[in-house]
Amino acid sequence: MKKIAPLFIAALALSFGVLYYTALDTSPGPPEDALESKIVLGFAQLGAESEWRSASSESVQRAARMYGVELMFENAQQKQENQIKAIRSFIAHRVDVIAFAPVVESGWDNVLAEAHDAGIPVILVDRKIETDLEDMYVSFLGSDFLEEGRKAGRWLRSKFSDWEGDVRIVELRGTEGASPTKGRDEGFREILSDDRRFRIVSSLSGDFMRSKGRETMEQILSEYYDPSRGRGIDVIFAHNDDMALGAIEVLESHGIKPGQDVVMISVDAQRSALEALKEGKLNCVVECTPYVGEQLMQLVTALVSGEEIPSAIYSEETIFTEDDPPESLPEREY
Ligand code: AHR
Repeated sequence: MKKIAPLFIAALALSFGVLYYTALDTSPGPPEDALESKIVLGFAQLGAESEWRSASSESVQRAARMYGVELMFENAQQKQENQIKAIRSFIAHRVDVIAFAPVVESGWDNVLAEAHDAGIPVILVDRKIETDLEDMYVSFLGSDFLEEGRKAGRWLRSKFSDWEGDVRIVELRGTEGASPTKGRDEGFREILSDDRRFRIVSSLSGDFMRSKGRETMEQILSEYYDPSRGRGIDVIFAHNDDMALGAIEVLESHGIKPGQDVVMISVDAQRSALEALKEGKLNCVVECTPYVGEQLMQLVTALVSGEEIPSAIYSEETIFTEDDPPESLPEREY
């Protein structure tokens, strides 16, 4: 039987629970005998819409090499039908384990039932699904999106604690129907709901992409920002860094100072967003880590060894704000 990395032994000890831990690619590495493994993992990545997504793909590919896991990797280009096709091809190849990052929450029942009937365990990575069926996947590995939205909301409340009058908020949403969009939106609104000063005046999708973040921001500005009448927007809450960075470009091209004229909140904490935080163009960045590749390989190895694994493992994440000394902000690989 394969040796399991120490972190994973802790996970097994709590195998019926839900774990939270920091997901960084810093564990001591794979078990010595892992390189002889013949495990085949089919991984259906949802796309390459953001810097975060590229880092996520890189994390899975690097970890597979490190653990000697044979990886069948498909990029679905943000299309659910492509992900379903990829999962069906993994079933046809009779891989040992299937993992995927579902582009949206619903519409997976048929293909998951097929994997179930074929006896192939499925792990959800990064995003969750909605299903009425039972036992369609064995584990979820990723972030707590609801909590990310709450963190953004709590920070905003503290930022505007002395403010009198309305706080007009624009929300740049991620992909509609995707679990991070739902969770971040819900958590954010939950925290602000009992304070009537906070008004979300516009909430539009930029699909987690920088280019669409730009387009959406242009559209919102034309509707809500009228410099001749003073402020039109007080806060922008972007569901990811790419859209926030796209919005920053648009604001600047209109002579509006992001971080000063408009308070900017983002999610992910990629390098360019932390740079923008240091420059005062972002005010708050909620962390969402893409680095779960090693944990995924540990789960896959344990599953194939017939071991029980936790039903959910959440990454432990933090928040970076304008009050943090610049030198305290982490160096990022992506
Ligand atoms: O599902 C995680 C989200 O998807 C990240 O916040 C975003 O950058 C990515 O595209």
